[in-house]
Amino acid sequence: MDKSRRTFTAGGLLASVSLLSENAQAGLASRTKPYAPSANAQAFVSKLGIRYPIVQAVIGGATPELAVAVAQAGGLGGLGLTWSPETEVRNYVTRVRTATREPFAVGYVLAFGASTLPVALDAGAPVIQFSFGIPSAEQVARIRQAGAKFGIQISNLPGARKAFDVGADYISCQGQEAGGHNQAQSSWHEHIDSIMAAAGKTPVLAAGGLSGGKDLRKVLAMGLSGGVFGTRFVASKEYPAHPEYHRRLLKAKASDTVLTVCFDGGWPGALHRVLRNPTLDRWEADGAKFESARPGVGDVVGRIGDMTFERYSIFPPFAVTTGQPEDMAMYAGLGVGEIQDIPGAGELVRRIWAECIKG
Ligand SMILES: Cc1cc2nc3c(=O)[nH]c(=O)nc-3n(C[C@H](O)[C@H](O)[C@H](O)COP(=O)(O)O)c2cc1C
Repeated sequence: MDKSRRTFTAGGLLASVSLLSENAQAGLASRTKPYAPSANAQAFVSKLGIRYPIVQAVIGGATPELAVAVAQAGGLGGLGLTWSPETEVRNYVTRVRTATREPFAVGYVLAFGASTLPVALDAGAPVIQFSFGIPSAEQVARIRQAGAKFGIQISNLPGARKAFDVGADYISCQGQEAGGHNQAQSSWHEHIDSIMAAAGKTPVLAAGGLSGGKDLRKVLAMGLSGGVFGTRFVASKEYPAHPEYHRRLLKAKASDTVLTVCFDGGWPGALHRVLRNPTLDRWEADGAKFESARPGVGDVVGRIGDMTFERYSIFPPFAVTTGQPEDMAMYAGLGVGEIQDIPGAGELVRRIWAECIKG
């Protein structure tokens, strides 16, 4: 097993848009009544029991504080639990469950299985979000038994059909615009019409390159049911990014991001959209080789206590990471150029919604 992954997990790390503005304002003010500016978005928020069709991607490193802030503000907050040990899964889900009565999601990258799914359900996770695979009949049965809902991130029509076949409550269509772990072969725009035509009543969300309310408005105007925001919530107070990562997000433009297999330590061949950095430059200059032939392979560039992170590790630098954060993978999507600040995540949800309904 990749050393950085082993150490990371072992430590439990850190620890139709016809806009009815009156109704929209009422929706903003109301704590209980879901409001969304299109029938499809309304159906989605009603199904999930959230107020706004704003989904915080279940990003690795997300803290209970982030999920709670988003959920309390009316979006679907979330935790990425793929690499978390059981104790952390129970602890994180219980903390969110205790802090808010609103729904939230927990995420699993199925390429790594979902061995802690029963623990997450037992602790009360109300929504499970899968990616890089389709849950088995047994996993779906467990989710249903627990009274939970589930969504699946897909990236094309065949993937969407499989998700519909297993009864997903919603799907999100990820495009190559997306920051971080990327399973897409093209922009989400390319497949969205055919996927929506096949979706029937299943809500379809877009994931990749969205950073504000204007983006959400466009997505809803296309007939989609909501938007998934990943990078935008990394640039929030509750996401425990290293200050260097936050600084780079504030400075970066879309052209500073690259979709690459460079940072695949722990997940061979995995594509990520990241900010260009010295590790990537050096690797490309050397011919973009795989595995052991990479320049500086095995260098420890980050530490958290006794955990070490190697140069090509998939893990980004967190607030408590010491070493050379500038050399580590910093995930960012194509919407990064619009990010100008690091607000609280709850404020961000309210701002995205206010911008969306203002037009
Ligand atoms: C920091 C970060 C971590 C991510 N972690 C995961 C993950 O663990 N599993 C996953 O399926 N996708 C992950 N993603 C991708 C998101 O699911 C989502 O598709 C993406 O963030 C949407 O694009 P955007 O970042 O441009 O908003 C991550 C993205 C970021 C930025």
